[in-house]
Amino acid sequence: KQSNIPYEAMGGKEVLEELVETFYNKVEHHPLLAPIFPVDLTETIRKQKQFLTQFLGGPQLYSNEHGHPMLRARHMPFAITEERAEAWLECMRSAMDEVNLEGPLREYIFERLTQTAYHMVNE
Ligand code: HEM
Repeated sequence: KQSNIPYEAMGGKEVLEELVETFYNKVEHHPLLAPIFPVDLTETIRKQKQFLTQFLGGPQLYSNEHGHPMLRARHMPFAITEERAEAWLECMRSAMDEVNLEGPLREYIFERLTQTAYHMVNE
């Protein structure tokens, strides 16, 4: 079934949750990223599933619970360098490989995440 909503086109809840879990599995082992994340990523993973669901056109799960995302402001407590933005995107790239998210849809999602990641750079 085709859909113009990226969330649905990628496979909905099941694939999105697999992508986020695979992504943080890489983040927690990345030398530049691990030090700024909590040791227990349970809550981080839960919030990122909520956020990416709405970011990709699915239900507004993040805002319903936490209000306006204000992502740049929420990242200000952490030193987000260009190197860390690249590392974040590298983890996402290999997570997308692992869940077989391919083709124009993958390129579209990755492009939007790239813009957002660079928007977070704060030092
Ligand atoms: C939270 C790092 C990019 C979405 C966080 C946290 C860190 C972090 C350290 C706090 C984790 C916690 O305390 O639970 C980074 C770094 C990035 C980056 C280094 C590199 C540019 C992004 C991007 C997105 C994003 C591109 C969205 C597409 C979120 C969300 C949260 C979060 C939704 C949870 C906010 C909340 O507490 O409600 N990030 N992040 N981040 N990040 Fe990022």
